[in-house]
Amino acid sequence: MYSKNIGMALVVALSLPCETTSFDLRNGTDGLAVYWGQNSLAIQTNGAQNELGLSQYCTMPTPPTTILLSFHNIFTQDPQINLSNHCQKTFRSSQMLDCTQLAAQIKGCQQKGIQILLSMGGASGAYSMENPDYAQTVFNTYLGGTNSSVQRPFGTAVLDGVDLDIEGGSPAGYANFTNMLHEISPDSVITSAPQCPYPDAMLGDALNNGWFDAVFVQFYNNACSPDKSGFNFNQWADWAKTKSKNPNVKLYIGSPACEECASSGYLGAQTLEQTYQKTKTQYSDVLGGIMLWDAGAAYNGNGPIAEAVAQKALGKRDEQPDYRGAAGAVGKRDEQPDYRGAAGAMGKRGEQPDYRGAAGAVGKRDEQPDYRGAAATLGKRRHPKHPNYPADDLHEVDNAPVSAREITRRNGKLRL
Ligand SMILES: *[C@@H]1O[C@H](CO)[C@@H](O)[C@H](O)[C@H]1NC(C)=O
Ligand SMILES: *[C@@H]1O[C@H](CO)[C@@H](O)[C@H](O)[C@H]1NC(C)=O
Ligand SMILES: *[C@@H]1O[C@H](CO)[C@@H](O)[C@H](O)[C@H]1NC(C)=O
Ligand SMILES: *[C@@H]1O[C@H](CO)[C@@H](O)[C@H](O)[C@H]1NC(C)=O
Repeated sequence: MYSKNIGMALVVALSLPCETTSFDLRNGTDGLAVYWGQNSLAIQTNGAQNELGLSQYCTMPTPPTTILLSFHNIFTQDPQINLSNHCQKTFRSSQMLDCTQLAAQIKGCQQKGIQILLSMGGASGAYSMENPDYAQTVFNTYLGGTNSSVQRPFGTAVLDGVDLDIEGGSPAGYANFTNMLHEISPDSVITSAPQCPYPDAMLGDALNNGWFDAVFVQFYNNACSPDKSGFNFNQWADWAKTKSKNPNVKLYIGSPACEECASSGYLGAQTLEQTYQKTKTQYSDVLGGIMLWDAGAAYNGNGPIAEAVAQKALGKRDEQPDYRGAAGAVGKRDEQPDYRGAAGAMGKRGEQPDYRGAAGAVGKRDEQPDYRGAAATLGKRRHPKHPNYPADDLHEVDNAPVSAREITRRNGKLRL
């Protein structure tokens, strides 16, 4: 039985004013959305549990603007979620995970202006939307609902919305689901992640008849990725402008964060930046940002793609003195050109060109050019393949790369 105090706590939490200037994907531009929860790079490389904890992505030098918890994969009256190694304990007498330890992290991310959504679906396909009341269940279980007899896997944290990554089952029911959710909870954000062939087999009906604030098109695993002649952002832009119920819907370019992250369509940071800039010159009215699958890979070597993309493609953060995405860090950015750390760590940054770490970890930075972590964990930081990844968490992630087919075979069922 779920604590009755939660209802009260929620009322209090919901009545607090929003404290920080936040990114809102309904109208924000140059957003960076990442999926978190499936630890997919580790699964795909048969390696370690390399995806970091949620809050660690929210305090990255260039944090995402949206994080999609993945996945909510069983949509019955006894709903379930799966966050791979991040949460495994279930509530008593229920299959629902008890991830209430994530509540504080979710709230911390939200306070930094990062939106946290729950992604429904994934590549397993073992789900369907049969119950027209399910929007109410989602509202009670993850959003602002205050029904104290409902088990809330994220406790008092109120997620900012939900994402539909429907890749299997039946396409029925999702348009109605989004409309009902939009009616019940107009402040909740609703997004989806169709594959790029237009119209999407699973979400086509929902996209035309339902409500969406942003759409993360998976421009990979198909002939319509940007590296192929069939790149079809134009079709999606046309949908956004002429068919979407929400005339202000934003489109994101969804891309794999690493070679192993998809069967095809990995671009690398530079090509992704160029694709984004070029698309922006033509479609700035609908382009909302970049989506990367997934967090563990996006911030782990390979560029690192998240930082490179955020800095170079997504609006050159250094040139935006009012950017407050990172750690709520207020300040005269122009005077602190090397600032990349936590809000408390102000100082003579110009003298510490390699500073990237925690506030307490000031020191002989120039002598530690590879330093990126916490003070206690200095050492052989720079892994040849995963230069930004803390050594402690590397374990076996550097196993020999496997072929795309092998990845697909091994890859857990819940891959995006
Ligand atoms: C974006 O939307 C939010 C929430 O509705 C609002 O508070 C904010 O002022 C909007 N920003 C812009 C630039 O329109
Ligand atoms: C609260 O949730 C329980 C369990 O799902 C349900 O039986 C009950 O009808 C709900 N109450 C209200 C007021 O929605
Ligand atoms: C959703 O479907 C239910 C049951 O079919 C219907 O009663 C309701 O009006 C629909 N709601 C919306 C917003 O489309
Ligand atoms: C959760 O997802 C992981 C990774 O995709 C998978 O290995 C695991 O079997 C899933 N767990 C359950 C209970 O479905």
